[in-house]
Amino acid sequence: MPEATLAPTPVYNKNHPFMASLVERRALSKPGSLKNTQHVVVSFAGSGLTYTCGDSLGVWPENDPELVTLLINTLCVSGGLQVVLPKFETSVSLQEAFLKHLSLMSPAKKAFEWLLPQLKDLDEQARLKSLLSPEAAEELKAYVSTHDWVDFFTDFPSAIPGLNIQELVEHMRRMVPRLYSIASSPTKYPEEVHLTVAVVNEEHRGRVRKGVATTYLAERAPLNTPALPVFMAKSPFSLPEDDTVDVIMVGPGTGVAPFRGFLQERIARGATGRNWLFFGEQHKACDYLYEEELTAWESSKDLYRLDLAFSRDQDHKIYVQHKMLENAAELWVWLQGGAHFYVCGDAAYMAKDVDRALHQICEEQGRMNAEEAIQFIKDLRKSKRYQRDVY
Ligand SMILES: Cc1cc2nc3c(=O)[nH]c(=O)nc-3n(C[C@H](O)[C@H](O)[C@H](O)COP(=O)(O)OP(=O)(O)OC[C@H]3O[C@@H](n4cnc5c(N)ncnc54)[C@H](O)[C@@H]3O)c2cc1C
Ligand SMILES: NC(=O)c1ccc[n+]([C@@H]2O[C@H](COP(=O)([O-])OP(=O)(O)OC[C@H]3O[C@@H](n4cnc5c(N)ncnc54)[C@H](OP(=O)(O)O)[C@@H]3O)[C@@H](O)[C@H]2O)c1
Repeated sequence: MPEATLAPTPVYNKNHPFMASLVERRALSKPGSLKNTQHVVVSFAGSGLTYTCGDSLGVWPENDPELVTLLINTLCVSGGLQVVLPKFETSVSLQEAFLKHLSLMSPAKKAFEWLLPQLKDLDEQARLKSLLSPEAAEELKAYVSTHDWVDFFTDFPSAIPGLNIQELVEHMRRMVPRLYSIASSPTKYPEEVHLTVAVVNEEHRGRVRKGVATTYLAERAPLNTPALPVFMAKSPFSLPEDDTVDVIMVGPGTGVAPFRGFLQERIARGATGRNWLFFGEQHKACDYLYEEELTAWESSKDLYRLDLAFSRDQDHKIYVQHKMLENAAELWVWLQGGAHFYVCGDAAYMAKDVDRALHQICEEQGRMNAEEAIQFIKDLRKSKRYQRDVY
């Protein structure tokens, strides 16, 4: 019998994503919440893709078609106009380019410089010139981060008549994929991942600004259709190989995502190391993400300790780092016993404050001076016992 020839398994990555199916989306935040955090399940069955706890899912989203139409109408062109995108061999319609391939926000400075001489209105020209001056660098940065192309052409409409649309698309930034920490265990769910998505919806200049990927996942991506381009983003953020090791996890907000995966995995593997989670959100009644699962794991002792910090349930803020400091003595004992310490979530404030609290605990509980605590924590990081997944 001739040997069966197996078709090579396709390799999916950022540039060759797998068309996955979004199979479930449900709200985690309850009525009364100021947030909209969603649980999203993506199936990649049949792809051959694998993941480990701590990895992220890369998602190529589509822009909001309403924003696409608004931009096309603002430019007074037809969405059917054919354009050629850099590195594309064939042309696509402007509608498709705006929907799938280009970023409609954060115009680049270079694009403004290209548009400057095309402004027919002298006042607009003076305004844009001043925004591009070296002294206005901060103002330009703020403008770019809060305005999209519709805002630009509303603020500088004299660029529109006679605008070369092919050149415009060449000056626009490309769509970039977004990453989401995987909130499930590969042992329990080998062919799907769970995500915890905080939906971005902000009002600015009388218009709702929808986060591209979060609103795509939460509102627009079709259900049960292989139409979501995804890839696995491997991460060094990972569980200890030794299942007897204790883990301390600090994950407020969507930062809880990888720790739900860690817990599922440790339970599935029968890990004997203890698990301690610090979770925080605004209000217990409406923002307690995965409340049922976490409390069930607390009751079963799969979660040996669960410390909660609901920031807005009282007149002063209570954050996860306050709970760490309240439990400093025990936390220090765990660290001395070899526990791994993990942080996930907001990089701008939370992760820095948690890091400060960790230094304080080392100084106070370990009777170290500041330099010794810095060195101790550096060593923790070096030995991969202090890991962060922050964004
Ligand atoms: C390793 C890693 C893991 C992550 N894990 C998670 C996770 O588990 N859960 C999670 O929710 N996020 C996670 N993120 C963040 C995530 O990747 C996205 O950055 C986030 O979800 C926002 O994506 P978005 O496309 O919806 O927003 P974007 O469209 O990128 O918008 C970002 C900002 O731009 C503004 N903006 C949007 N549209 C406009 C417009 N038209 N005009 C002007 N301004 C506008 C928005 O107000 C917002 O402030 C992670 C990031 C990394 C790097
Ligand atoms: N780049 C992007 O476009 C984008 C989009 C969405 C989210 N993010 C980032 O992702 C993060 C996660 O958002 P999220 O909705 O999951 O939750 P979050 O905003 O981090 O909030 C979770 C909890 O953390 C609290 N918190 C605020 N500041 C803190 C601090 N310094 N230390 C400790 N806790 C603090 C919040 O309290 P209060 O709210 O009461 O202060 C809340 O109770 C955001 O903070 C943001 O930085 C980025």
